[in-house]
Amino acid sequence: MLISITLRNLEVEIGVPDTEATILSELNKFEYLSPPLKKNRLIPKSIANTKAIFDFPRLLNINIVASIIIVSIREIIMIKLDSFSSFFIANWKLHGNLNFIDEFLDKIQMPNDISKCIVVCPTSIYLDTLSQKKKKFFIGAQNVSQYEDGAYTGEISSNSLRDFKIDFCIVGHSERRQIFYEKNGEINLKSFQLIKDGIIPIVCVGETLEEKKQGRTNEVLENQLKESMSDSSNSSNTIIAYEPVWAIGTGLTPSYEEIESTHKFIRENNKKFNNFKILYGGSVKSSNSKEIVALPNVDGALIGGASINLDEFKKIIED
Ligand code: 13P
Repeated sequence: MLISITLRNLEVEIGVPDTEATILSELNKFEYLSPPLKKNRLIPKSIANTKAIFDFPRLLNINIVASIIIVSIREIIMIKLDSFSSFFIANWKLHGNLNFIDEFLDKIQMPNDISKCIVVCPTSIYLDTLSQKKKKFFIGAQNVSQYEDGAYTGEISSNSLRDFKIDFCIVGHSERRQIFYEKNGEINLKSFQLIKDGIIPIVCVGETLEEKKQGRTNEVLENQLKESMSDSSNSSNTIIAYEPVWAIGTGLTPSYEEIESTHKFIRENNKKFNNFKILYGGSVKSSNSKEIVALPNVDGALIGGASINLDEFKKIIED
């Protein structure tokens, strides 16, 4: 039998013997010893007169307490977003290999300023290698399954990301929306799965050039946010990334004023988003990163091309 309990926002399942009959048959294997030595102890009959080595109720209690502690730790180790003043998230996309990982680790010094949160997102196959070799930065995945478990060939669950100590995951990147036809509803489910497993979703939103030209930027963002944000999202467990599609990989960026006003729009669009960390992405490089990240409503950058140019990335994150 699985008992479900809810601990804060997490549901925990604890395994106990299946039926009353099972419990009784377990209990029949033991007998209560007489007080004081034997008080509340259950031990196998065969050794009842020697040494108490099995304490069924106690063991059950310990299991329950241990499960609660494990789940609490999972929740506790979810990164505390408020302890950072800025975020620099490297999205390697489909670039990088084992040699590149070694080169990255050799060349890139993490900033002394520990209020800067650095996250590196390699392709899934390298998550574990990077995670084992990393120093002073966090690891993020680039995608996750909307499903928890089951017959979904080729998918990677949030639960397995958690097993490999992955702390962040990009969801709803425009490349996934456009090339892989990912929809807001799926992004919403992916965020839900991640939050459940203590991983921070970085939910990407952004308008196309056509939508921008039609003056529909805010309308598009509002709709994407409304539909792709999980109900369980809040400012401590989710990050928003504004990435105008037309600025990704093109060398074009909105003006600083445009970036600031769009971020302000996102923040004020729904009071739920007031305290969210909102990152900008799209042709961020060393020549514009400081100005962008210094904007009042910008909390950091999501960096594509410049994150695999190690000289560039070094300059972007340096003190
Ligand atoms: P670029 O920095 O190459 O424009 O890519 C941005 C991006 O897609 C980050 O997720």
